Amino acid sequence: KRIVILISGRGSNMEAIVQACAAEGWPAQVVGVVSNRPEAAGLAFAQSHGIATAVVDHKTFASRDEFDAALAAAIDGLAPDLLVLAGFMRILGAAFVQRYEGRMLNIHPSLLPAFPGLHTHRRAIEAGCAEAGCTVHYVTAELDHGPMVAQAAVPILPGDDEHSLAARVLVEEHRLYPQAVRAVVEGRA
Ligand code: GRF
Repeated sequence: KRIVILISGRGSNMEAIVQACAAEGWPAQVVGVVSNRPEAAGLAFAQSHGIATAVVDHKTFASRDEFDAALAAAIDGLAPDLLVLAGFMRILGAAFVQRYEGRMLNIHPSLLPAFPGLHTHRRAIEAGCAEAGCTVHYVTAELDHGPMVAQAAVPILPGDDEHSLAARVLVEEHRLYPQAVRAVVEGRA
């Protein structure tokens, strides 16, 4: 199976997937990492691991649709079986989503259906929740609402702010996402 990972920044989830895939001998390989931002730090990691990279800079397109089309063209050049969004911070249009529906995953830093959208950790703390977490789901046209693959929960502790909570959730993301992607490429999810 050919996996392409989309990133926008640090790419720590992408790193975790690349390392698990190699270490555990999945029936898959990460064949490309694509970013919408030229300065995404994750690109250097991918290049240092011999993984093809591409940048489709959303700032250079006049419309969202033109960006989505250029992104799809770059992705299709890598012929993925599975598209993995990992810290990818663009909302993708319906045409793009339909093109990859059923073979596109995302990780969202909340226990969906709670807290779709942004600033999830701050909102969970403000709501007085006892726990927070992350969700791996298939991407559909409805933002952050696709069929769920896996979730992991962490406690919200007294004195937590959004940074301490985000750090605790990120540890779980780096465990959960590789497990979820492996289950999908092995046909178990
Ligand atoms: C993570 O919190 C993830 O849940 C969200 O983007 C953040 C950054 O991820 N999707 P990464 O370090 O760029 O993988």
